[in-house]
Amino acid sequence: MYSSISSISFSTSPAILYDLPYAGSAICSVQSKQKRIWREKTTRYEVTGEWFQKHPTGVGQALVVSDAELAKECFNTSDMVFATRPKALAAELMGYNYATFGLGPYGDYWRTMHKMVMIEVLSQRRVEMLTYIRLPEVRGSMKNIYEACVILTGGIVTTHATLTSALSLLLNNPKALQMAQEELDVHVGKDRLVEESDITNLVYLQAIMKETMRLHPPALISPARESMDNCIIAGYNIPKGTRLMLNTQKLHRDHKVWSDPNQFLPKRFLTSHKDTYSKGQQYEYLPFGCGRRMCPGAFFCNKDFAFYVSQFILQGFVPAKPSKDPVDISENVKLTTNMKDFPCEVLLSPSLSGSLYYANE
Ligand code: HEM
Repeated sequence: MYSSISSISFSTSPAILYDLPYAGSAICSVQSKQKRIWREKTTRYEVTGEWFQKHPTGVGQALVVSDAELAKECFNTSDMVFATRPKALAAELMGYNYATFGLGPYGDYWRTMHKMVMIEVLSQRRVEMLTYIRLPEVRGSMKNIYEACVILTGGIVTTHATLTSALSLLLNNPKALQMAQEELDVHVGKDRLVEESDITNLVYLQAIMKETMRLHPPALISPARESMDNCIIAGYNIPKGTRLMLNTQKLHRDHKVWSDPNQFLPKRFLTSHKDTYSKGQQYEYLPFGCGRRMCPGAFFCNKDFAFYVSQFILQGFVPAKPSKDPVDISENVKLTTNMKDFPCEVLLSPSLSGSLYYANE
């Protein structure tokens, strides 16, 4: 990959490859049509051998990374330079002057808050310790669905973007759904409810979750970083104050890394990509970002998403599409979250004996 750079004549800064009609941080609210343009354009420039683009966002220059090698250079070699986030009026006014550390500048406050959150709230130990709080919530919801509902609609709330994508993909891929149900039958069966500790054995389900976040990363374009100093990336001089964004969807569909990149093929995570995790160390797969500012919720999400899917979609109910048409997986971008354009409608039929829905009481 790096050898191709020798064919590019180095300049002090990369040429502006194109202008998109983004105004200020409106890049975050780019709608479906523009998003397609984004994909097409990035594909076009990949053909020219360029690894990144620079375009005016209205408030400064931005570097958009769509390539694993370049992501490694930015988020590994130069991660310290890009450890801060750009100032945003919303984070200042609505975030109590950047008290929400995730949107704030790099510095003492960020370091203290980050350490506290990583140890006291979202560490593996703490997440596991708090299972006793989450479990009744999940079981209670399952009971409510059992008592009340045959059609469930979802897909509006941001934190549910991944679960809605997983559900939609499974409804459109009945073979994968069947294989996941069979795996659950083998390891858990129908006589007891699935526990969080069962997830380790449900390797196909874990592959489904990874593949869902590869195809439909909730953070389509990772929240921006900003360079705190001048630096050199891929031979180009990048000035201080340049925004850095990861085009996660493009990265996750790079045909040089992923075969049939647009297909939902969970098995790839058990074969060709069996050692690929979302820990921010494999730069071709970064649903939670990487480096110092990587998402601190990654462990929690990985653990819980698989549990929710196993409980609701695979064990508690048999899900079905309300019509013969495939579920529409068109996406839309709200802030930085990639969500389905339409709610996902699903028919649910109970699949366990009645008493198990009340196991929590
Ligand atoms: C599907 C679920 C989620 C995805 C895909 C996701 C993804 C991301 C990404 C891509 C970033 C930017 C990383 C970077 O700049 O390199 C991020 C940052 C962050 N995420 Fe998440 N996230 C998710 C859920 C959560 C949850 C559940 C929490 C909290 C409980 C959380 C808390 C944060 C915080 C605080 C930051 C900012 C970190 C910092 O700047 O130091 N996220 N997330």
